[in-house]
Amino acid sequence: MKNKIDSLIKEVEVFVAKSSDDIEKFRINFLGKRGIIPLLFQDFKNISVDSRKEIGQKINALKSLIEEKISQEKKKLFQTESTIDDKDLSLPGDDLKLGSRHPISLVRNEIIEIFKRLGFVISEGPEIENDDHVFSKLNFSPEHPARDMQDTFFVERQSAFSSHTDDILLRTHTSSVQVRVMENQKPPIRTISPGRVFRNEAISARAHCIFHQIEGLYIDSNVSFADLKQTLLYFSKEMFGEETKIRLRPSFFPFTEPSAEMDVSCKICNGKGCNVCKYTGWLEVLGCGMVDPNVLENCNIDSSAYTGFAFGMGVERIAMLKYQINDLRMYFENDVRFLEQFTNSLF
Ligand code: DAH
Repeated sequence: MKNKIDSLIKEVEVFVAKSSDDIEKFRINFLGKRGIIPLLFQDFKNISVDSRKEIGQKINALKSLIEEKISQEKKKLFQTESTIDDKDLSLPGDDLKLGSRHPISLVRNEIIEIFKRLGFVISEGPEIENDDHVFSKLNFSPEHPARDMQDTFFVERQSAFSSHTDDILLRTHTSSVQVRVMENQKPPIRTISPGRVFRNEAISARAHCIFHQIEGLYIDSNVSFADLKQTLLYFSKEMFGEETKIRLRPSFFPFTEPSAEMDVSCKICNGKGCNVCKYTGWLEVLGCGMVDPNVLENCNIDSSAYTGFAFGMGVERIAMLKYQINDLRMYFENDVRFLEQFTNSLF
C-alpha cells in the first residue's frame, strides 16, 4: 500500500491541466465518491495496527497534495484564459466606424436647404389620408383613373355607390399637404412638404410602391407664372450647377392651370445628347403650375384676391440624376457597398 501511495503522489505531482475539464476529471478521479482517496480509506481498515499511523499520515498527505494541486492548476488556467498579461494596453483602440446618411436623406435635405433660402417653411401631413385631401379638394374628378385600385392603396374603401370622399387611403402624392396647409393658414403661404408617398406599382428599376416627394406651394396676391419660373430656375442652378438651363413643357394636372413639366439641361453631355438623357439633352425633373382657382376655393381661399404656384418632385428621381443611380431598388436594399459611397457628403 505504501508503494501504491508513493506512485500516486508522483502521479499527482506531474499532473498538468490543459482545461478546466481536465481539473474536474482529476478531482473526480481522486476525490469523487468512488474515487481513489475514498477507496484508500476503505482499504485502510484492513491494515495491520502497527503500520496504521504511517499509512494514515501518507493518505492524508496525498489528499492535501491533491487539493493543493487543484487550486494551483485552477489559478494557472485562469491566468492563461484571460490572457490579460499578453495584451498591450497602451495600444490605441480600433477606429469607430461612422455611418453615412442615406442618399435620399442627403438629397431631401439639400432641396429643403435651397428652398429655405427663398423663405419657404416646412410643413408635413399624414401618410394615411382621406380622399378629400388626396383627390377631391385637388380637383380630381370622381372618375379620375388615379382613384382606381390599380394606383392607390386603400385602407378603408366605401362601397362603389357611396361618395369617394369617405375613402381612407395611403397618400399617392404630397400634394395632399397643400390642401391641409391652405385649409389651416391664411396667405401669404410659402411652404415645402417633404414626405413618403405610396402607389400600387410593380417594383422595378424605374418604379417602386414607396417613394419620396417634395411638394412646393406659394400663395399670395399677384403670384405669377414668372415667379414660378424664377423659383424653379434658382432651385435648378443651386441643385445641379450654375450653368444649368431649364425648360417648361405644357402638361396637365387636375390641381394646376396652366400646368407644366420642367426639364433641366443634361449635366453629363451639356445638352449635346447622351444615353443618360436619351439623346435629347434634357432630363425631366418635376411637375408644376398655377394653383387652379377651384383648389383655392375648395380650401376657403378667395381666388379673386390670391393666386399661387405649386410644384412637386420625386426625391429618388433627383438623387438618380445627381448621383447617376440607374436602379430605384438600390435605395431600398440597404446594401452597405452602395450606402458607403455617400460617407463624405455634406448634408
Ligand atoms: N402631385 C404630382 C405627382 O405626384 C406632382 C405635382 C405636379 C405636384 C404639379 C404639384 C404640381 O404641386 O403643381 O405626380
